[in-house]
Amino acid sequence: MSRLCRWMGLWLMGILGLGSSTGWAEIRETGVWWLPRNVSNFGHEIDFIFYVILWLTGITAVLVFGVMIYFIVKYRHRAGVGAIHSHGNNTLEIVWTTIPVFIFLALAIYGNEMWAKMRMETPPTDALQVAIVGEQFGWNLRYPGPDGKLAKMDSQKISKENPFGIDPGDPDGKDDFTTYNDMVVPVGKAVRLHLSSKDVIHSFYVPEFRLYQDMVPGRVYDFVWFKTDAKGHFQLACNQLCGQGHYKMFGKLGVVTQEEYDSWAKGKAPAPATASTASAPQNVSVANR
Ligand code: CUA
Repeated sequence: MSRLCRWMGLWLMGILGLGSSTGWAEIRETGVWWLPRNVSNFGHEIDFIFYVILWLTGITAVLVFGVMIYFIVKYRHRAGVGAIHSHGNNTLEIVWTTIPVFIFLALAIYGNEMWAKMRMETPPTDALQVAIVGEQFGWNLRYPGPDGKLAKMDSQKISKENPFGIDPGDPDGKDDFTTYNDMVVPVGKAVRLHLSSKDVIHSFYVPEFRLYQDMVPGRVYDFVWFKTDAKGHFQLACNQLCGQGHYKMFGKLGVVTQEEYDSWAKGKAPAPATASTASAPQNVSVANR
């Protein structure tokens, strides 16, 4: 029995420790019991609508269950008291139908506008362009060099040797540099992502950005963008079950000052122009897909 108690104690300590241990803090800066902190521009609106819905449904639940419990007790069966036949109340029916209709409409319109702002508006033209291609099980990242331009991506050209599906002769790509499982972005700067996958569906997900986007093989999604408003170190973890190694598909994600970003980028050598596919016949890259 005492052994069981000890195990229970250890288990409880483990659970409680999740929220406070320093080892975990590197990955998750805030406790695991509530939303992680938000550092992105769209996140404020997303959190706002989350809290609006939470309060609305919370208050409604308390009211509905309160009235229900009150009625259950008040109108319980008692000897000698007969049942009352009620045909309802039309005014009440109209009121409690109309109010939720307007609430749901308001939520839908607000949500729709938010979505349009996040995914349909053109990202700022001065945004930092970052290409991210998922693979089993890691993140390939491609950054523009000093010219600020990324090589053009063609999802049909994506292969093992050419993870970004670029044309080796593309002048914009000559100074691009690549990293693996290492993402760094400057704080306060708009970042536009070009997302794709080499093999199966992966998902770019950063809870602190309130940003989630699937990465689908055969497509390049270039409409996702964000802007951060605070520095920090986060985890870039895949959020689609993509195979046996899904659990270990994560990279580092640093939001740093522009100066820190510049010196980090300076230290990265330009990627060789995917030499293996430069002269390879077309069928080789097809066979490798
Ligand atoms: Cu990639 Cu899960």
